[in-house]
Amino acid sequence: MAEKTCASDSEEKRPQFGSRYLTDNSNVFEHNAWDDVEWDSELEEEAKEKIKINSVVSLNEDEIEKYEEDAGKFWDIFYCQHQNKFFKDRHWLFTEFQELAPQGWDGPIKVGTEDQNIVEKSFKKMTVTDDVSFPGCTAKIRIMEVGCGVGNTVFPILQTNNDPDLFVYCCDFADSAIKIVKNHALYDTSRCHAFVFDATDEQSNYPFPKQSLDMVVLIFVLSAIHPDKMLWTLKRLTEYLKPGGVILFRDYGRYDMAQLRFKPGRCLSENFYVRGDGTRVYFFTQDEIDEMFTKCGLMKKQNIIDRRLQVNRGRQLKMYRVWVQCKYQKPPIE
Ligand SMILES: C[S@@+](CC[C@H](N)C(=O)[O-])C[C@H]1O[C@@H](n2cnc3c(N)ncnc32)[C@H](O)[C@@H]1O
Repeated sequence: MAEKTCASDSEEKRPQFGSRYLTDNSNVFEHNAWDDVEWDSELEEEAKEKIKINSVVSLNEDEIEKYEEDAGKFWDIFYCQHQNKFFKDRHWLFTEFQELAPQGWDGPIKVGTEDQNIVEKSFKKMTVTDDVSFPGCTAKIRIMEVGCGVGNTVFPILQTNNDPDLFVYCCDFADSAIKIVKNHALYDTSRCHAFVFDATDEQSNYPFPKQSLDMVVLIFVLSAIHPDKMLWTLKRLTEYLKPGGVILFRDYGRYDMAQLRFKPGRCLSENFYVRGDGTRVYFFTQDEIDEMFTKCGLMKKQNIIDRRLQVNRGRQLKMYRVWVQCKYQKPPIE
């Protein structure tokens, strides 16, 4: 395939997060990567020019609709073909999202507090039968990763965070991805529940009550969802957060190398492209993310752009990466 998907073209090639800054341009090929690289106006203009060329929409409506209808199939085929080839140990996960590490969660929901009672009452309200039994129902801290793929985030969490009160959910609409997760040596149903789920499906419910999650993790998944469905997807996830719960988000930023690399003919709508394998990707600005999360009633805790210059020293190539990283919190109950 012409454009690479998932971990390969996301952030995985980056060496560990560090703080290596390029102060003298003549040194650029001395290291594989540089942090927080400033973009000058020339670089930005170059990016805009490339996008002007590759953002002409030449696919017809039926073709565009087919990519939406078959989105799950394309990802399913992707994982059938690649299996867990894109499994990478994300060393940066706990540096960037300390909330996921043991004792990292310092939210207002603690068992025994008034807030927890409100959450428990809300379970009762939500369930028709008063039966509050669901996977992870006895846990005190619940994290869910949406669009988990082969478990790049879930398994590092399970491996690092042995808190007996923690339960991790993960879902993906690609059946083949969930099969790979369930076959992983670290998959343990007493600590984790993986399930096939389309986050955009308005007819289905997550397999636990609303207001039961402390954290929702969205890493390189919202970009794979049709822009028209993003807000609804986030609104629903917000319903499943406890008051005070957070959404941790990391995804492609506008003008990332992956966007500039698209050839003409791959654009589906503004900043939304289809790769050669049928999987799709959107490139966000910080403001777009802020607008969506705020519309969900969430409060900004972090919204940053992570710019990095990756260098292929052998081929003397410079690759400018752009990611958006955010943390948004559901207002705690006073
Ligand atoms: C770029 S991959 C990222 C996978 C994983 N989060 C990671 O970072 O390695 C995007 C993932 O989102 C999943 N996905 C896309 N749309 C989805 C949807 N509507 N519901 C659930 N999963 C979805 C895909 O199947 C794929 O596994």
